[in-house]
Amino acid sequence: MITCSAPGKVYLFGEHAVVYGENAICCAVELRTKVSVEKSDEIIIESILGRTRLDHDTHPYVSYVIEKMRQFVDIPGVRIVIESELPVGSGLGSSAAVTVASIQALNHLYECGLSLEDIAKTGHEIEKMVQGNASPTDTYVSTMGGVVMIPQRKKLELINCPIVVGNTHKFSSTKQLVGNVSKLRSDFPSVVEPILSNIGQISILAEKLVAEGDYETIGKLMNINQGLLDAIGVGCAELSSLVYAARDNGAISAKITGAGGGGCMVALTREDNAEAIAKAIENAGGEAIITKNTAEGVRLE
Ligand code: PMV
Repeated sequence: MITCSAPGKVYLFGEHAVVYGENAICCAVELRTKVSVEKSDEIIIESILGRTRLDHDTHPYVSYVIEKMRQFVDIPGVRIVIESELPVGSGLGSSAAVTVASIQALNHLYECGLSLEDIAKTGHEIEKMVQGNASPTDTYVSTMGGVVMIPQRKKLELINCPIVVGNTHKFSSTKQLVGNVSKLRSDFPSVVEPILSNIGQISILAEKLVAEGDYETIGKLMNINQGLLDAIGVGCAELSSLVYAARDNGAISAKITGAGGGGCMVALTREDNAEAIAKAIENAGGEAIITKNTAEGVRLE
């Protein structure tokens, strides 16, 4: 069996503003989806969602990956087993991770010779097939790893402190939130456009701070970014409660990551208080995961 894994991601800065061409900084985290593949007589896809054949309802990403890879190579039958540390549908890039890891696993099994660039591009095409529209960020960061300035795709230094993710377990639709921001922007362009542009400016300022490892100042900017995300209506009571629980217990910073409206928040912490912050998030009703960023994108296990 061949096993490949790919990481999820958090936004340190810039979600929503990035939709309007502003800068954002996204970072791969050491929470991975593992995909194991072996040749078989038939197509079998196994995950916590069940055991299926090609099935665009239960396993849409992997089913489209198989169909897409069939354009490069003959795949009569294959068994694919998915295991994930990433909560599904919470803005941590679980769909990109499963897509990218599946492409790379089949790439190895059938010796297709796809490059990392090919994998990121194919992964993005598959996300678009499933979701109708998708930004290329998740599949790019999951393929390449690291801390990445978007849209330039410039690799920055790694963030050398614990990252605590808090999951509200509240469902939110990225499509709907992006639509809400778009409506707010067209209703109040003179107010909302500067907010989006200020979010972009934060990412630009942060680039140098990431290089210097100045996490205290990065934290201040992340907190400002959080205020601006609230201003454009992508916060919610559950996210705010986790954000303040983290900050009140000494987190360097805490903000929404991804589309908001539910899903996850992210906190940067000092080495010695990640556990305390995770506990505070749990006490406030969230599920906490302590992680760190990773330079490694998709890899062969
Ligand atoms: O919640 P996620 O991980 O799907 O992130 C959405 C990020 C947005 O900036 C809100 C949308 C986008 O496509 O960039």
